[in-house]
Amino acid sequence: MGLGYIGLPTATLIASKGISVLGVDVSQRVVDTLRQGKAHISEPDLEGLIRTVVDKKTLTVNTTPQAAGIFIIAVPTPFKKDKEPDLSYVESAIDMIAPHLRPNDLLIIESTCPVGTTKKMKERILLARPELDQSIFIAYCPERVLPGKILYELEHNDRVIGGVTEEATEKAIQFYRQFVTGQLHGTTARTAEMCKLIENAYRDLNIGFANELSMLCDKVDINPIELIDLANLHPRVNILQPGPGVGGHCIAVDPWFLIYEFPEETELMYKARRVNRYKTEWVIDKIQEAAAQFEKQHGRKAKIACLGLAYKPDIDDLRESPAMEISMMLQHRGEDVVAVEPNIQEAKVKDISIVALNQVLESADLLVPLVSHNQFKGIDWKSLRGEVLDFCAVTSV
Ligand SMILES: NC(=O)c1ccc[n+]([C@@H]2O[C@H](COP(=O)([O-])OP(=O)(O)OC[C@H]3O[C@@H](n4cnc5c(N)ncnc54)[C@H](O)[C@@H]3O)[C@@H](O)[C@H]2O)c1
Repeated sequence: MGLGYIGLPTATLIASKGISVLGVDVSQRVVDTLRQGKAHISEPDLEGLIRTVVDKKTLTVNTTPQAAGIFIIAVPTPFKKDKEPDLSYVESAIDMIAPHLRPNDLLIIESTCPVGTTKKMKERILLARPELDQSIFIAYCPERVLPGKILYELEHNDRVIGGVTEEATEKAIQFYRQFVTGQLHGTTARTAEMCKLIENAYRDLNIGFANELSMLCDKVDINPIELIDLANLHPRVNILQPGPGVGGHCIAVDPWFLIYEFPEETELMYKARRVNRYKTEWVIDKIQEAAAQFEKQHGRKAKIACLGLAYKPDIDDLRESPAMEISMMLQHRGEDVVAVEPNIQEAKVKDISIVALNQVLESADLLVPLVSHNQFKGIDWKSLRGEVLDFCAVTSV
């Protein structure tokens, strides 16, 4: 259920092992694209594998589910305006599945969820199908794949698998064993749910430290990249690289699933969220300061080129992307801005013109690397006419 960044590679990988899979997505566009053997998301090696499994008919797709022995839910779990987790997609997927469930079926939730959701979803099913009490198995198994390496990591990463009952854990482990070569660690549903949330809260916190450090370094005129490299020579220190903020639909979202419900116990996580949010605003201000300086010196507006729009290197995903937000905000504030995003074919994204890298290297007055895409590595930055404001440490690679 759900054929997006997680559900589609999962369905395709399982089908490639010869297991018959029905992929379900409520979007007719997604289903139509897949029926032609094409991918609607960009992920290395995925489209070739889709074509193979669609041709072999081990993967079929539809907008509605049918009876099946195993159900996997990988639908979105965003948050609402006030940061309350929005479980409506999971609930709707559960409601779509409920009429098709039979005794001994296994249902696995992979969507990132607040602690306690898996048990609540079991209760929701039993409200609709009370006769299934004691005879269906429900487990939670979070995803920790890296976009750009999803197919590899789906197979090779260790997985944490938590059933609502021990039998459900065991059944889910047996299922994943068919296509995962990483280790499978059984636990409770609550621990598995919490595990996913704290993994991303931990990442947010560590990136927050690097981002805070980069702003502090700016104040005291120290190169943060050199400083971090030197500090990391300490055998027990491993500071991450700063960036223009934190994006994507996981690290920037998941900590809220804890902070919203437990504000008093999550002060540090909340601070990290705030620092990472603030870093994006800080970057916008820094670029505008440089643009104002340029205008003062040259009597005309600076041509700004933002290098990268995705939320992390070498992918096309713009969700919650700080680079996207920075480019849009600069445009909104009247700056003359274009973007270079080698992973996107469109000529415009949300009113931002996308141009080729070689079009701006010589012509831009301010070059602003925001995402360390491979295409931006190895450029002779010092030879360029424009000023370079690097917020993703790509110029030191
Ligand atoms: N993308 C990642 O890197 C990643 C990593 C770890 C965890 N997650 C989690 O996995 C879950 C899915 O994320 P994603 O990035 O794959 O989302 P996505 O938006 O790429 O895809 C979700 C798909 O679900 C479909 N959908 C919505 N409601 C449905 C329903 N009731 N039945 C069937 N299909 C339905 C949508 O049309 C969409 O195609 C989220 O909880 C996310 O937090 C994502």
